[in-house]
Amino acid sequence: MTWTRFTPFEITITKSAMPTKNKIAITGVKPSGTPHIGNYLGAMKPIIDFQKNHQTYIFIADLHSLTTVHNAAELRTNIINVALDFLALGLDPDHTVFFRQSDIHEHSELAWIFGCLTPFGLMERAHAWKDALATGKKDPTVGLFTYPVLMAADILLYNPDIVPVGKDQKQHVEIARDLAEKFNSTFGQTFKLPEPSIPENIASIIGTDGEHKMSKSYNNTIQLFADESTLKKQIMNIKTDSTPVEAPKNPDGDTVFKLYSYLATPVEIATLRDKYLAGGYGYGEAKKLLLTKYLEYFGPARQKRIELAKNLGYLEDVLKSGAQKAKKVASHTMEIVRQKTGLVL
Ligand code: ADP
Ligand code: TRP
Repeated sequence: MTWTRFTPFEITITKSAMPTKNKIAITGVKPSGTPHIGNYLGAMKPIIDFQKNHQTYIFIADLHSLTTVHNAAELRTNIINVALDFLALGLDPDHTVFFRQSDIHEHSELAWIFGCLTPFGLMERAHAWKDALATGKKDPTVGLFTYPVLMAADILLYNPDIVPVGKDQKQHVEIARDLAEKFNSTFGQTFKLPEPSIPENIASIIGTDGEHKMSKSYNNTIQLFADESTLKKQIMNIKTDSTPVEAPKNPDGDTVFKLYSYLATPVEIATLRDKYLAGGYGYGEAKKLLLTKYLEYFGPARQKRIELAKNLGYLEDVLKSGAQKAKKVASHTMEIVRQKTGLVL
C-alpha cells in the first residue's frame, strides 16, 4: 500500500505563476461540525486546491443546512465556524469567490423554477431521500425532498464547468445536469452541463479505532482545531495491537503509522518504517511522534484560525465582498432565465 503525502497550505499564489483560469468550478459546503483530518484530506483540501487553476466559487450552503438545523444560534455558530475553518486552511478570498448561499436570493428563485420542471419520480430516486426513508427518518420534510433542486440552482446559476464534490454528492450533480437539460429543451439552450469532480485517488482516512473510516458518526476522529490536550487524548486513544515494545511490528497494519504517513515526508516515513521493523520501538512513542507531526502540519492553520476568530469583522467583510461578486453572475443568469420563461413583460 502506498500513502500519499499532502503538502500543507499552499496559500500564496503568485499572479505570474497562475495558469489562465478559464474553467469555472463551484461547490457548496454545509456547515457540519468540527472538522477532522479525514474531512480535510478527503474534501476540504481538494476543494481549496481548485483555486490554483480555476475561477472558483465556494459558498456556505446555509439554506441546505436548514433541512437539519432548526436553531438560530446553532446555525449562526456553524456558519461562522465553517468560514473560519476554510479561511484558516488556505481558502484565499482573492482567488476564490467565497460567500453565503442565503445572501444570493437568486438561488431560491431558480430553485422554484427548477422545481416546476422536476419530475416527482426523479426526487423519489435520490439516494439521500431514499436513505432518509429507509432509516425511518421521522417526519421527513419537503425541504429534504427537494434538496437536489436547490443544489441544481446553486450550481447552474454560475455556469460552471466543474463541481468538486465527495462521492456521496455525485448523484446530485447528475440531477443538476438532468435539470439543465430539461430547462434547455423546454425553454431553449441556456445552461451548459457541468461535470462532477470527485477526488478518486484519495483514500478513505482510517479512524482512530483502526476499523472504520474516520467519521464524526463513529466518534473516531482526530480534530483539526481541538486544543492540544484533546488532540493528545485523541491520538493516544488510537487502537493498536498488543505486540510488545521489544518485538518488531508491521507498519502497514498499524493505524498510527498510516496516519503519520499522510502527513510526513518520504524520508520520515521510511525512518519510522525501519523503527517498526527493527523492534524496540513502542506504539506510545509512535503516537508522540504523530502528535508532533500533526501540530507541525496543522500548526499554521491552527494559529491562523485563532487570529481570524479574534476579528469576525474581517470574516463578514470577506463574505460580503464574495456575495457582491457572486450576485453579479447570479443576477445575470436570472435575467436570462426570466426572459426565457416569460417572467418579464
Ligand atoms: P463525517 O463522516 O465525519 O460526518 P462528513 O460526512 O461531514 O464527515 O464528510 C464531509 C466530507 O468529508 C465527505 O464528503 C467526504 O468527502 C470527506 N470525508 C469524511 N470522512 C472522510 C475520511 N475518513 N476519509 C476521506 N474523506 C472523508
Ligand atoms: N449537498 C452538498 C453536501 O452536502 C452541499 C452543497 C449544496 C453543494 N449545494 C451545492 C455542493 C452545490 C456542490 C454544489 O455536501
